[in-house]
Amino acid sequence: MLLELALFLALNLPGPQFHHLTSYSPRGYLGPVKWQKRPKMEWTFLRKIKLPPPEFPPISLEEALKNRRSRRRFYRSPIKLKVLSGLLNAADGISGEKDGLKLRTAPSAGALYPIFIYFFAEEVEGLEKGLYLFLPEENSVGLLKRGSFRRQILRFSPQGDMMARAPLLLVLVSFFQRVTWKYLDRGYRYAYMESGAISQNIYLACEAYGLSTVEVAAFYDTYINQLLDLDGTTSGVLALHPVGPRPK
Ligand SMILES: Cc1cc2nc3c(=O)[nH]c(=O)nc-3n(C[C@H](O)[C@H](O)[C@H](O)COP(=O)(O)O)c2cc1C
Repeated sequence: MLLELALFLALNLPGPQFHHLTSYSPRGYLGPVKWQKRPKMEWTFLRKIKLPPPEFPPISLEEALKNRRSRRRFYRSPIKLKVLSGLLNAADGISGEKDGLKLRTAPSAGALYPIFIYFFAEEVEGLEKGLYLFLPEENSVGLLKRGSFRRQILRFSPQGDMMARAPLLLVLVSFFQRVTWKYLDRGYRYAYMESGAISQNIYLACEAYGLSTVEVAAFYDTYINQLLDLDGTTSGVLALHPVGPRPK
């Protein structure tokens, strides 16, 4: 405990401070306590599109785990809507219900679900090009902004070129207050962990569909947050997943 405190004081950096201040001990929470309200989630959609029921390809867990790789090359051919439905539902879709609460494919601290999946559909059959949000409880997607975003995607990171080639770009976004109202700033840790679980679901689903994907976490936060109308502090982009047909 003393060593931990000494390190915390010596390393006057946000990373060690964040980790220390969001620790639990038998005496309680170590960081400052400032309760927040549970946020209301509201979007204005240009239109909503119902997704077909997801069908998951029957491959073994062993096969999916052994073959999973980060793949950074994509054919520019379109993705089918039923494949998009399978991917989104595998990533973080509704998989059950308990005491009236809808539960999902990815675990979530306190079942508070801070992570939302936005995506840029550049070439998805049945969807006009645009920025969308996945609505798991309705198995539908909401159109937020119309048009191609390839020009902007090129500027997302030094790997913008690679991402702009994919027909689909998934964006994992956290609304931290959905978890910090209950767990205080420790909730930030939980959101990062949940995003990792969703990311692995995306990897495994891509393996099942024979698609390429890679988790990209090195990106220009401010640029993408602004494009998605996120403040970058109480909400922000955590990871990107370009997805597309895999070259042979
Ligand atoms: C949190 C996280 C961040 C990552 N960020 C990037 C990234 O910005 N760009 C990239 O090309 N790959 C990124 N990757 C993929 C890793 O480079 C990859 O997982 C690693 O090289 C191991 O290869 P494998 O996934 O094929 O097993 C990231 C992976 C994780 C888990």
